[in-house]
Amino acid sequence: MSKVDVLLGLQWGDEGKGKIVDVLTPGYDVIARFQGGPNAGHTLEFNGIKHVLHIIPSGNSKIGSTLKGIGPAYTDKIARSGLRVGDIMEFDFLEKYELLKVQHLQTAHTLKFDIAAFTIDGYTIDEYEKKWLESLETLKQFRLINSEYFINHCLDEGKKVLAEGAQGSMLDIDFGSYPFVTSSSTITAGVCTGLGVAPSRIGRVMGISKAYCTRVGAGPFPTELFDSTGTRLCEIGHEYGATTGRPRRCGWIDIPALRYACMLNGVTHLFVTKPDVMNDFDEVKMCMHYNINGEDTDEIPFEFNEVEIKPQLQSFPGWKQSLQGISEYSKLPKNLLNYLDAMEKATGVPVLAVSISPDRKDVLFKQ
Ligand code: GDP
Ligand code: IMO
Ligand code: MG
Repeated sequence: MSKVDVLLGLQWGDEGKGKIVDVLTPGYDVIARFQGGPNAGHTLEFNGIKHVLHIIPSGNSKIGSTLKGIGPAYTDKIARSGLRVGDIMEFDFLEKYELLKVQHLQTAHTLKFDIAAFTIDGYTIDEYEKKWLESLETLKQFRLINSEYFINHCLDEGKKVLAEGAQGSMLDIDFGSYPFVTSSSTITAGVCTGLGVAPSRIGRVMGISKAYCTRVGAGPFPTELFDSTGTRLCEIGHEYGATTGRPRRCGWIDIPALRYACMLNGVTHLFVTKPDVMNDFDEVKMCMHYNINGEDTDEIPFEFNEVEIKPQLQSFPGWKQSLQGISEYSKLPKNLLNYLDAMEKATGVPVLAVSISPDRKDVLFKQ
């Protein structure tokens, strides 16, 4: 009997989950996404070709939503009026759909939302609806399963299952920077509710963090850089949203937030991505604590969005060299190894591997 391993983001999304899942895939029989939807944008690169996946594993504008309908879909679910995928096979599906549609049109009308002017990927709502209804015919050709039985049977048979998260822990509906969050449970607990596996069946929890930090959309970001260093991280790291193309906000790594995410998820192994973006930096900084109203703290405050947080930064000397061609963890530059050691020490979680380019071949495992 095996357990489900988990792979999820520890920051505000876009940590490189898609790439790491792609690298881990050969070691698993089943890869299962446990939450989220097309708000996710996961990038994989191999043989020089870039692939962006949104739903396949591997609206509310002021929070900077991706406008993919995630909020309304989860609202319907919690309101117990949502449609489930199995409903498309039922004889009264269109009836249920029309009812829900009327409710949503009424909400849009009340909010004075201009439906006629709204487009998705260049299509009007009517055009998009037509395409969506057609796409259901394609979906009907797949075998629909009760995933809770499927996954548990796989585990009973000793198969290896990897649960892939979307978004990041700091966007979690319950423990993220509410209300600047997504609508789903992005943490390990979401694996249990999303896939129907018991907590005792969770195995390794692999958390991913960039060597720095990014955030798309609005919301608190204590270590955000508004200077040329922030611009350099954005430009060198190609920090533009894979789903919306918006520039990502950039800053130094935030240890209190990372430690919080490790605690919530029970992270057992850490993946660190994108240190190569800082190859030319003279120094690299890490926020070790927050200072709020003159007091140092390691905790995320309840009023995360309202209080002024002064990040207490520690400087590390840069490694000042390209990482290209390095194929063993131990051969990484000493200053980068020191930086990774500091991440391990600050989080109390061992680093399993580091990724040093967008390509699937450049993941160096520590052991
Ligand atoms: P996800 O949503 O967590 O899957 O991440 P995204 O795909 O949205 O964003 C991560 C971006 O960083 C993608 O463009 C990846 O190709 C890229 N990437 C992943 N790992 C590395 C790395 O180690 N170095 C560099 N330079 N880019 C990376
Ligand atoms: P992946 O899986 C980064 C952010 C949005 C917005 C907030 C709510 O690629 O890491 P939503 O569309 O869920 O209502 O948006 O969450 N957001 C993400 N940011 N990566 C993502 O996914 C995100 N999915 C949602 O920018 O601030
Ligand atoms: Mg992404």
